[in-house]
Amino acid sequence: MTDSLLVLGIESSCDETGVALYDTQKGLIAHNLYTQIELHAQYGGVVPELASRDHVLKLTPLIQKTLDDASVTPQEINGVAYTSGPGLMGALLAGASVARSLAYAWKVPAVGVHHMEGHLLAPMLEDTQPEFPFICLLISGGHSMIIRVDGIGQYKVLGDTLDDAAGEAFDKTAKMLELGYPGGPKVSALALQGNTDRYKFPRPMVDRPGLDMSFSGLKTFTLNTWLKAQKENDATDQTKADICRAFELAVADTLTIKCKRALEQEGLNRLVVSGGVSANREIRAKLDALMKKRKGEAFYPRLEFCTDNGAMIAYAGAQRLLAGESHDLSFAATPRWSLEELEAV
Ligand code: KG4
Ligand code: ZN
Repeated sequence: MTDSLLVLGIESSCDETGVALYDTQKGLIAHNLYTQIELHAQYGGVVPELASRDHVLKLTPLIQKTLDDASVTPQEINGVAYTSGPGLMGALLAGASVARSLAYAWKVPAVGVHHMEGHLLAPMLEDTQPEFPFICLLISGGHSMIIRVDGIGQYKVLGDTLDDAAGEAFDKTAKMLELGYPGGPKVSALALQGNTDRYKFPRPMVDRPGLDMSFSGLKTFTLNTWLKAQKENDATDQTKADICRAFELAVADTLTIKCKRALEQEGLNRLVVSGGVSANREIRAKLDALMKKRKGEAFYPRLEFCTDNGAMIAYAGAQRLLAGESHDLSFAATPRWSLEELEAV
């Protein structure tokens, strides 16, 4: 086992091509991101085939740029980490093929990284890092989970979403209000102009025991509110903003209640919040208030590492490579993959 590794990380599970270089002693050396938002915006959501083709086009130049930015030569790289799931099959394969080919040519090990483990560990790229164990609220476009984390690879899923993920609910709300894609940032921006007192939306499943979540009822409530406003000739920009505000507050409150419950249940007072939705201002404010009241600590990735990026994959892969883990050529992509199947490091 070496104690210092320079690892190239590649993320391509959905609509962002991310590349980064992480050094286990020096930290993050360089990172670049190419987002496909413009490509998919005209369709109102991600078109998988277009995503895969674009990753193929963008990956090699982005890797070259990242090496150039850091003045790193391929000879200096000790390993390649790539997102091997969960995600869109074609998009995953685009990243996996490039990563595996480079590892083969450079004669270094390659490791397939679980995308959600990447998100979960993203706060480790910051100056102040959470100690284990902690509770992680993992909120992205495809997942909403509450996880007890005892170490890298030691994950116990305490709560999951029964239907729509938090990010999905934001995206669908944006779509019904015709705000565009991706919905989270659009809903959040419009909510700033919304009136807090106009609507009160339900906080789903908070009166039931347990840590599972469900956002599809909230989505229907939002739709019905919007349809009623249209019927009453009140489908104005202000109504849209008021709906966004009520929706965002309902999601933030629900997540906060569930996190409080998880911390109490597990007897822990450290909370890590990651995944695309963790960029949300209101959610952060409510969780910060909760942790302040409990005299505990909350940890988040910096804003640019909340959504998909190569840095989190380079970090997670580096930890696994450091522990001697690597995967052979047959390990390409796993579009469906539970976090609990991962090996402890
Ligand atoms: O983690 P991520 O980049 O991709 C997945 O792994 O799914 O998360 C993307 C999700 C999208 O649903 C997007 O709307 C949401 O994160 N998102 C936000 C915000 N920024 C991104 N949701 C709420 N507020 C935001 N500021
Ligand atoms: Zn993601």
